[in-house]
Parts: sequence; structure tokens; C-alpha cells
Amino acid sequence: MKLWLAPLEGVSDCAFRTLCYQYGADLTFTEMIRVDGLVKRNKSTLALLDLKNDTPTGVQLLAVKPEILKKFVQEFFSYSIDPVCFNLNLGCPSPDVVVQGGGAALIKRTKRVAELVEILKKLNYPVSVKIRLGLNALEKEKKVYLSLLKEVDADAFIIHARHARQKSFEAADWTIFEECLATEKKIIPNGDISTAEDILFFKKMGIKEIMIGRAAVRNPSIFQLLKGGKGESTGLVTKKYISLAEKYPSSPKFRENVLSYLGKEVHSKKWLM
Ligand SMILES: Cc1cc2nc3c(=O)[nH]c(=O)nc-3n(C[C@H](O)[C@H](O)[C@H](O)COP(=O)(O)O)c2cc1C
Repeated sequence: MKLWLAPLEGVSDCAFRTLCYQYGADLTFTEMIRVDGLVKRNKSTLALLDLKNDTPTGVQLLAVKPEILKKFVQEFFSYSIDPVCFNLNLGCPSPDVVVQGGGAALIKRTKRVAELVEILKKLNYPVSVKIRLGLNALEKEKKVYLSLLKEVDADAFIIHARHARQKSFEAADWTIFEECLATEKKIIPNGDISTAEDILFFKKMGIKEIMIGRAAVRNPSIFQLLKGGKGESTGLVTKKYISLAEKYPSSPKFRENVLSYLGKEVHSKKWLM
């Protein structure tokens, strides 16, 4: 089973991604990066494109307007990065993003998503989308995620198995994966995956890649553990992180977040309210 590190705002910068890669993550992602900020050459947005070494990294983008994504594609050479792939964020539950029709509001807008995917594909990198099961319970009930799977021609669909109004203590709904797999699209499950038993559950379904978020924030050596190794103590992991955060300078915000989360359950107000 290939193990992917989830995009994690304020956490998954170069140092953290490298640490996870060293512990066995097969693919990692940047946090969600706003395309508007990139094309406006906003300094703090550009800083998130921190692909500083050979850690396999996908760039996650937040895009809503096709013309802005087109501009990014036209100017792509100027960013001087060579990611493994791109991912479009269709899961952000933030009201400021949703009100503009972005993030989780895009799940039901299949035509728009299909258009955004086609624009990004022009760069000739694999393009995946990361979705939730809908913006709310009603959308989940209507199975908007299935319509999206059927109508969008992305290379892979990462599915965080909750709708965008759910809180982190509500269990992810893994029962949806069978019908998602029946679409014959490439599916990458996400949400509450943290043990060897969980991996086995998905393996039996024929899944070849899964994505891990909070369990890796708690202890990045989870990747080693899930690949049959021993895993390492929070103390040792912290030491390795500090050294990587110096080698690939992490902003104080990322450093503080990671150091305060290691060894603990993560509660992010924005992502998992
Ligand atoms: C601190 C934090 C930051 C997150 N940032 C992002 C992000 O930038 N983009 C995104 O698609 N999901 C983001 N998420 C959601 C995770 O990628 C993942 O979908 C979610 O945590 C469920 O997986 P898990 O149960 O393995 O944590 C974030 C989650 C957390 C806890």
C-alpha cells in the first residue's frame, strides 16, 4: 500500500514533508495554495511553493475562476518548480472560501471542476482532486460526490469521507468507498486512517494508495510503523523535525504548529471544526 501525506495548512511545509518522506511516506502535498495569490505574486503565497529538495511533492491549489487558473498555467515556468503532480482542493469548509464558490462548494459544480481540471492538465502533470462527500448532509445524501467522479476526468480522486459540516469527532464514513470504486476511477481514501487494520480494510477493497493527515501530525513515524517498522518516540521525531526545520527553513508559524501538535490529537478549528 502506498501512503500519502495529506495537505495540512500551517503544517506540511518542506521540513515536515521531508520528515514524513524519510519515515516512508510515498507522496506528500503542500498545504492548499490560493491561485489568486500566486498570480498576484503575493509573497506569503509564493513562499508556500517551497519544493526545496527531492521529497516527492504534489502542489495543492485552491482555484475557482478558470481565467485565473489559465493565467497560472501560462506563467507556470516562472515559478521554477517541478512537482510530482497537482491537486485541486474541493474540500475546504471555510465560509470565506465557500461563499466565493470555492473549496467544498465546488463538489456539486461538476462542470466547473471538469473545466478547472482540463486547464491544469495542460501542464502535463497528473491532476487529482481532493473532495469531501458534499458541502452538507443533504449533498451527501444526494451523492454529489458520485456525480463528480463520473463527470470529471481527473487522474485520481482523493476522498475525505466526511461532508464539510462534520466535526472531527464524527467518524469518517468508509461505507461510501465501494460505490466510489464501482465508477472505476482511481480512488484514494482519506479520513481516520491510522492503523494496520485500517490499511488491511482498504487493501481488501483493491485500494493501492491511502492518505493520512492527523495521525502523521501526531507522529510522522506512522509511515514507518504502517510499513512494518517500529515507529519512533515523540522525542526523537521532534529532534529530527527541528534539524530539518533549520535545514529547510520553516516559518515560525509552521514550526510552532508542528511542535505543539507532535504527540497530541490535532484540533484545527478551520479544517475539522
Ligand atoms: C491542521 C490541518 C490542516 C489541514 N489543511 C488542509 C489543506 O490545506 N488542504 C486540504 O485539502 N485539507 C486540509 N486538511 C484536511 C486533511 O488533509 C485531511 O483531509 C483530514 O484531516 C482528514 O484526514 P485524517 O483523518 O487522516 O486527518 C487539514 C487538516 C488539518 C488537521
